[in-house]
Amino acid sequence: MTTEYEIHDHDVLIIGAGGAGLRAALGALSQGAKVGVVCKSLLGKAHTVMAEGGIAAAMANVDPADDWRTHFRDTMRGGKLLNNWRMAQIHAHEAPDRVRELEQWGALFDRTPDGQILQRAFGGHTFRRLCHVGDRTGLEMIRTLQDRGVQLGIDVYMECTITRLLKDGDRVAGAFGYWREQGRFALFRAKSIVIATGGIGKAWKITSNSWEYTGDGMALAYDAGAELMDMEFVQFHPTGMVWPPGVQGILVTEAVRGEGGVLRNKLGKRFMEQYDPKKMELSTRDVVARAIYTEVREGRGTEHAGAYLDISQKPADYVKKKLPSMYHQFKELADVDITKGPMEVGPTCHYMMGGIRVDAETAKSSVRGLFAAGEAAAGLHGANRLGGNSLSDLLVFGHRAGLAAAEHAKAVRATPIDSAQVAEAAREILAPFERKAGESPYTIHRDLQETMQSLVGIFRDQADLIRALEDLEKLKDRAEHVSVEGSRLFNPAWHLTQDLRSMLTVSEAVTRSALARQESRGAHSRIDYPGLDAVWGTKNSVVVRKGDTMTLHQSPVPEMPSDLRQLVAEEK
Ligand code: FUM
Repeated sequence: MTTEYEIHDHDVLIIGAGGAGLRAALGALSQGAKVGVVCKSLLGKAHTVMAEGGIAAAMANVDPADDWRTHFRDTMRGGKLLNNWRMAQIHAHEAPDRVRELEQWGALFDRTPDGQILQRAFGGHTFRRLCHVGDRTGLEMIRTLQDRGVQLGIDVYMECTITRLLKDGDRVAGAFGYWREQGRFALFRAKSIVIATGGIGKAWKITSNSWEYTGDGMALAYDAGAELMDMEFVQFHPTGMVWPPGVQGILVTEAVRGEGGVLRNKLGKRFMEQYDPKKMELSTRDVVARAIYTEVREGRGTEHAGAYLDISQKPADYVKKKLPSMYHQFKELADVDITKGPMEVGPTCHYMMGGIRVDAETAKSSVRGLFAAGEAAAGLHGANRLGGNSLSDLLVFGHRAGLAAAEHAKAVRATPIDSAQVAEAAREILAPFERKAGESPYTIHRDLQETMQSLVGIFRDQADLIRALEDLEKLKDRAEHVSVEGSRLFNPAWHLTQDLRSMLTVSEAVTRSALARQESRGAHSRIDYPGLDAVWGTKNSVVVRKGDTMTLHQSPVPEMPSDLRQLVAEEK
């Protein structure tokens, strides 16, 4: 089989074309860098669109008392203080400017009567803070960033999977991969690389994530020597569809609850009274997801093992105006009219708080020339993310990553590509064709999802996590022997063999980190260690590769300055 490849040169290469990647591209372009964006799917087809309910930014358009301090405090408390405080501070400070900029670039928003951007309530936010357009905010953000990027001249490489970062000593030199359609190889030389590939949801069976979210960027960075941090913190969004089976996991936006939707069990009880009587349905996601899961486990779930989410007490026109996508989603996929009756919902794997460890100011990783932003990066959200903070995260840190990557590219020379690394990357990509009568990647993926769903889910314990690690060892071994038939022309089974490598890496990192953390904090709930532990509260988990072995250690959570510590402790 041919191992020829085409070559593309850029100052800054962005891997991933969702909100974080596009915003990073715009940041780098603003510094005069030659920017390329490569993605394994289509430009803008990203999980960003699943942040339907809004962008969190303390604009104070609806609640004048809001400010960056309250947003900072909510984010830190929501993250159970495991957050990188400096990231949380930068985020709360800069989010309003990034939203205004988006508006100037043409993004549409719902409006207050006096013409300002409308903001709505969301879980864990003290004030109505989410700037939105109905329940299609992520989509509008992507449309705006994409239009601007294309207009300003980013080079876009779609349907190209990157499988290896190439290095020159301790710095990145480029990325290698293949075109999904034809199977031909592509080499991208770049002085800086920004990883913006999003999350890892496809390693779980029930997920809001689509096929792209296999942890590629985190695995690429890990293989290149970067640190992964806080991988045990996987967010299960409380409300995904549970019925019919073919649509299980599809997101039901938190905006339903933000607009007044209530949760009930099969007995008709508003069960959140028991779990968080103060915030009720607008408690943080970890709390609401555990509440629904517990109701189901204790026999009070709905017919299809979920909870009822009801907004039908509001006028039908209001529901259709505020939640148009939800109205259509339930009508078309479940034959349910949400203006007349309740939806059935249950937790769905939605977001990864952990990821590549980055510097707060510049988004640079521990590998020279490698940056990360958005869901692929760790730090901002700590142990649990507040809804809406993902869109503001990717605007704020996408922008910063783009600027810093362009700066870095200006400061260094292009470096030669090591042909041995290229040959090894090509060999690795083609290996599944060389093996005969190996296992199908689909069965391995199915079993991986089964393991992660049943053993590394919302509630965890030591025995399950040890079993999960044993399963993962076997799955890794099976993946080594995976084989595919046919040619390199659009061959989904072959593509899955590449994705499987990433999913296995990140799944192992999640499981090892979850086993080590002997406490419950945010999205990480250990049945055998049910409470917060003060000592664990001072530690971030860090996974790094040593040879072929995944190693785990703890690193101190950066200490907050006293004024911010006081702010976080204050009651409002
Ligand atoms: O529920 C939602 O609209 C999701 C928002 C988010 O994940 O930030």
